[in-house]
Amino acid sequence: MLLAPSSNRVYAGDAARLNAAEITLLAGALGIEASVEPVTVAGVDYLAVAGDDDRLDRVVSEASGAFALFGARDGLLSPTPLERRRLYTDDVVTIQKYQGKTNEQFTHLLLNVTAALSKRPAQLLDGTLHVLDPMCGRGTTLNTCLLRGLDITGIEVDKGDFEQYQAFITTWLRTHRLKHEIDATQIRRSGRTYGRALELETAPSKEDWKAGRTQQVTYLSMDTTKLPDVMRRASVDVVVTDLPYGVQHGSHGSNGERLARSPLRLLDRALPGWHDALRTGGTIGLAYNRHVAGPEAMAEALEAHGFTVVHGHGVDGPTQGHVAADAFRHRVDASIDRDIVVARKG
Ligand SMILES: C[S@@+](CC[C@H](N)C(=O)[O-])C[C@H]1O[C@@H](n2cnc3c(N)ncnc32)[C@H](O)[C@@H]1O
Repeated sequence: MLLAPSSNRVYAGDAARLNAAEITLLAGALGIEASVEPVTVAGVDYLAVAGDDDRLDRVVSEASGAFALFGARDGLLSPTPLERRRLYTDDVVTIQKYQGKTNEQFTHLLLNVTAALSKRPAQLLDGTLHVLDPMCGRGTTLNTCLLRGLDITGIEVDKGDFEQYQAFITTWLRTHRLKHEIDATQIRRSGRTYGRALELETAPSKEDWKAGRTQQVTYLSMDTTKLPDVMRRASVDVVVTDLPYGVQHGSHGSNGERLARSPLRLLDRALPGWHDALRTGGTIGLAYNRHVAGPEAMAEALEAHGFTVVHGHGVDGPTQGHVAADAFRHRVDASIDRDIVVARKG
């Protein structure tokens, strides 16, 4: 597998190691035997993936850093098509650039790892996964899911982010002449207004639209801790989010006050609602900054709210896929030492 170039040089430096762990975990979760190791061919970095299973190309193709695949025999490389579900053009995730945007490749990785560790890992590949990003910013996870043909709900308290997302996606849909319906409404429950909602339905072609093969994106502009008031219980398969780092982005309470640098207080208030929204057997994957909350504290917070940690502190080797507890730890910049914790409901 040839690794995709990354506009971020720091992330690119870790990409081979992160993708090797990701493929090992995905294959393991699907019961596929595979060995993965970084190699350099004529000065270019690749991952060498070995295994007999027919499904391996499909899994490797979905890896966050997959750029091209080659069969290797007798020292020669022959191009092999990527077998992945990408229903739209990837400019939907690359066009927007802003401070605090989560790296696009890392967003794919977090989704892959989290979904693979759920009780229904095959959903990641068949397009039936419903995802929730309860702190979605300007929508990197939303657009990643749309690109992959998955339904997604996002929540964000910053009203400016909601407006930026609405403007971006409206222009993008028009530019690509995609059939769609987009509605901006108020979120009202029991006579109370919680914020604004953007509901979008689109399809990659006119034929898909007519046949009802559509994708749905819902963006709720509200405080994530109020989620139980508005969201149906057990309605999503995975929850993924890149938590506030306590650096560029603060953790905001409902009235906009800045909370402590650590996201733990916010998590304590938000986790009951996120747990409710998840189906049994579903997983939650959180990206967090080790400088403001340690792996032990993250695991404790999740366990305190009824989750079982399946990747992270205290898990020697996940039951599915064998990667170290800190296999996805990487440096973003001097103030962000990012890691992932994944926990399961039931
Ligand atoms: C690291 S950023 C996520 C960035 C996002 N993945 C993107 O690429 O645009 C964390 C987000 O959590 C949001 N946030 C903080 N407190 C919140 C709350 N109580 N409810 C909803 N969102 C909140 C912040 O406004 C910030 O946009």
